Amino acid sequence: MPRVITLPGDGIGPEVTAAATQILREVAPDVTIEEHAIGGVAYDTHGDPFPQVTRDALAGADAVLLGTVGGAQDSVWNTLPRPKRPESGLLALRKALGCYANLRPVRVQPGLEHLSPLKPELARGVDILIVRELLGGVYFDGDRKIDGATAYNTMRYTTPEVERVARVAFWAAEQRRGRVTSVDKANVLEVSELWRRDVTALQGREYRGIHLNHEYVDSVAMLIVSDPSRYDVIVTENLFGDILSDLAAVIPGSLGLMPSASLGDGAGLFEPIHGSAPDIAGRGVANPAAAIMSAGMLLRHGLKRPDAANQIDRAVALALRQSPTRDLGGTADTATFTRAVLDALETSPAVG
Ligand code: NAD
Ligand code: IPM
Ligand code: MN
Repeated sequence: MPRVITLPGDGIGPEVTAAATQILREVAPDVTIEEHAIGGVAYDTHGDPFPQVTRDALAGADAVLLGTVGGAQDSVWNTLPRPKRPESGLLALRKALGCYANLRPVRVQPGLEHLSPLKPELARGVDILIVRELLGGVYFDGDRKIDGATAYNTMRYTTPEVERVARVAFWAAEQRRGRVTSVDKANVLEVSELWRRDVTALQGREYRGIHLNHEYVDSVAMLIVSDPSRYDVIVTENLFGDILSDLAAVIPGSLGLMPSASLGDGAGLFEPIHGSAPDIAGRGVANPAAAIMSAGMLLRHGLKRPDAANQIDRAVALALRQSPTRDLGGTADTATFTRAVLDALETSPAVG
């Protein structure tokens, strides 16, 4: 029996994770689900945003479903020493799981173009996979300091780190339209020079069937929203991927439509890309679609159940058509939308 750990976390995390768990139970009733603490609530109860009991629970788990962590801008959590902050708990979790490749799909389903603020002809058919490097760069480099009037962080990458995430991007492109755009800032940064050199060399050695091009991150920030159809797979370093993926959320219409899968050495981590949304937390109005689709990615990549994953994707698309949430201009609250997904599951065949 597969064992899944859920980590609801802070803010809207528990609300959207409850919805995703409900859907997961429906399509995969044999899965054992165990809930544990992470983030600010874990700090409040255990004095640690990634407590040992949560760490221990990961041993032998098949996949992890995360909600969100973090507080509002004025939260006391933001005044804690950095290792005690909610976000540090999430980074430690990613590290513990060895999840170095974060897959962030950006899709506009047929018939859902109206949810995008882009012109329908620009939104139609968009299907991008952002592969974000997740365990390196400025996020994790030990060379970092704030000292009086000076502070620094270091963006450092090594060839093995670049190659392992680039491999995931090339592998994904093989299942898709065969194109990878590597995004960097090689016109300014040495770290990008190495990134570009290593991605190019790997393509030349092992992935000659894939079309590879390179673009600068500033230009991609413009093109991804003005001409999104030009992209198939995008591969980029940690911080660029963080920023570009929130920007790309504009294309389907909301951060609430952006799921993710983080893959690597062991059990995968599946999480919406949005944060804890303190402005709407506790009101039952968050869009749970990203969390539900993350459960879909868990089934696809973590438990190797593509039929169940497809079933979820179809049901979410149907629910978005019939019962859009407030972030998408509709009126459905979290419970109404989740009900609509459950109803759609009943009308959609399990296989196919
Ligand atoms: P955010 O993503 O939480 O919210 C940005 C805006 O999008 C808000 O207006 C919010 O209401 C809206 N939004 C986000 N998700 C939504 C959803 N599912 N349905 C409807 N509306 C939604 O970003 P922020 O405000 O910059 O960050 C809040 C906190 O979340 C911070 O502490 C930050 O560090 C943390 N954060 C955590 C994660 C994570 O856990 N993976 C990701 C990003 C930010
Ligand atoms: C995300 C978030 C996280 C990140 C934060 C909360 C650490 O913004 O998952 O996109 O920057 O990776
Ligand atoms: Mn982010």
